[in-house]
Amino acid sequence: IGSIEDVQAMLNELGITDPLPTYEAASVTTNPIDIFRSYIAEEMHKITGVSRDIVYPALEWTQQMEKGDLIMAVPRLRVKGDPKALAADWVSKFPENQYILAPEADNQFIKFFFNPKTLARLTIPSILSKATRYGANHSGAGKKALIEFSSVNIAKPFHAGHLRSTIIGAFLSNLYEYCDWEVVKMNYLGDWGKQFGLLAVEFEESGSEEKLNDDPIQHLFELYVTANTKAKAEEEKIKAGETLEGESMNDKARAYFKKMEDGEPRALALWKRFRDLSIIKCEKVYARLNIKFDIYSGESQVGADTMAKASQIMEDKGISENSEGAKIVDFVKHGYKKLGKAIIQKKDGTTLYLTRDIGAAMERYETYKFDTMIYVVSSQQDLHLQQLFTILKLMGQDFVSKCVHINFGLVAGMKTRSGEVVFLDSILDEVGEAMHEVMKKNEEKYKQVENPEEVADTIGKSAIMIQDMTGKRINNYPFDIKRMTSFEGDTGPYLQYAHARLCSILRKANIPMPLIHTADLTLITEPQAIMLLRTLAQFPDVITNTLKTNEPTTIVNYLFKMTQILSSSYEVVKVVGSEESVARARMALFESARTVLSNAMKLLGLTPVERM
Ligand code: ARG
Repeated sequence: IGSIEDVQAMLNELGITDPLPTYEAASVTTNPIDIFRSYIAEEMHKITGVSRDIVYPALEWTQQMEKGDLIMAVPRLRVKGDPKALAADWVSKFPENQYILAPEADNQFIKFFFNPKTLARLTIPSILSKATRYGANHSGAGKKALIEFSSVNIAKPFHAGHLRSTIIGAFLSNLYEYCDWEVVKMNYLGDWGKQFGLLAVEFEESGSEEKLNDDPIQHLFELYVTANTKAKAEEEKIKAGETLEGESMNDKARAYFKKMEDGEPRALALWKRFRDLSIIKCEKVYARLNIKFDIYSGESQVGADTMAKASQIMEDKGISENSEGAKIVDFVKHGYKKLGKAIIQKKDGTTLYLTRDIGAAMERYETYKFDTMIYVVSSQQDLHLQQLFTILKLMGQDFVSKCVHINFGLVAGMKTRSGEVVFLDSILDEVGEAMHEVMKKNEEKYKQVENPEEVADTIGKSAIMIQDMTGKRINNYPFDIKRMTSFEGDTGPYLQYAHARLCSILRKANIPMPLIHTADLTLITEPQAIMLLRTLAQFPDVITNTLKTNEPTTIVNYLFKMTQILSSSYEVVKVVGSEESVARARMALFESARTVLSNAMKLLGLTPVERM
């Protein structure tokens, strides 16, 4: 089903000879529901006289199947009169046809229910033939998205904010790629700043070459902890009025960082080793989540010349001002009361997080000419990103209108047994082990799994990801290993189980794929089967909607709904033991369900398992 002609041919087979109405917004080759939409829109346009481009988008997908396959809110057509009466009138005029059962007026809404036979014929072959591409669309063709996510800090603890940024960012990258965007995945490392001075100073005092090569992230983290403890103790002393022997850690760190900013080779060489070794380790850990960054950029990579240029523009345009030797932006003066003030250059001439972000954004646009740039960063940095976007706007950098901050809430209690989380690795290990324990409890099943450790690891990762993506991004949630690794309720393991069960039906039924593809779909008749079919048909609309919300929960919630309908259909819709032609049709339905589940899970970043 690659072309409009294919679609029309399929309609002809169904005895529908009217040419398919063409709508610009319709994507009939990728979304079977758009065929129904085009047809209904055309009828509604004829009945109401309202222009086609108003009618078409008013036909919306529904979250609950009781509301119909498509629903239209009468007021959206902006026709004078009582919406309730209009709904009743239009419904009475709607012609009988093969597409839809008689529409229903419900208050000011009109509910459309598709004819299940037509729906089956249009949807199932589309799912089976498109396979891994069912749900995808071409809306991003020719467009480029730069997605910055994860953005961990070298030598500082990995925290829940990084976990969420990693999960959500990877998901968005998959989603945009699925819809034909060219996606550049960027990790903007926290690899610059005074902290690095502190780390270097401590490395020179107590660092170990061996440990650094062995496990750079762990070792740098240890140095970071020691250095900070020392610095704190010194501060306490100073507060108490005592004098320090020699220079303080903080002073040494500042001096070291100054050397780095001035480009002193020796200072830079050590820093570069820290960075390179950390990236190698990071790549391995991200691979566990099937993530591969196109670019490891970072705060250190922002050109001094770009920042100087930015600084000049800010000065020339009167955006920045001098304040006790430093340079600041007073947003209040520019009409942004809530944004307060921000320093963009310290007294000693060194740059800050914000300064580097300004330069980075300009360089990224210069290099990539993106159509959208997405920053996946915790809502704790809302102010920072607003300040950044506002400065860019004041500077007249028009690309700022293409920049988006995708934010998210906090996670409470993300700790490992040893306490502080050092890196993503430790979280994945810990949840994988917990998952393994849960699996062992079902001895029967456990014995059948060939590679239980690997499966536990895969399902454990699903557990973490689904827990993270279940609510709206902005919601906070507690990191709850027991809850997330449960097979019951809305969890990752539950979705994995649903997928494995579909695989097992396919194995047991043992019907050759070509016979499934050519099944007689009119044999799909049980209400449960039709409910499932209608839900599967929604998937392309779910994707389109997710591109608007940028919310993984749009997909996750859909999957929970779909898998619940699926599991309540098993009782009635049996494959094994049914008459052959019926078994084939039902298998076509279940293989379609498996395809949708698998496609959605992969988009979310999960690896669907076949046995567990
Ligand atoms: N490294 C930062 C942190 O851990 C996040 C970076 C976010 N991205 C940005 N362009 N500022 O807090």
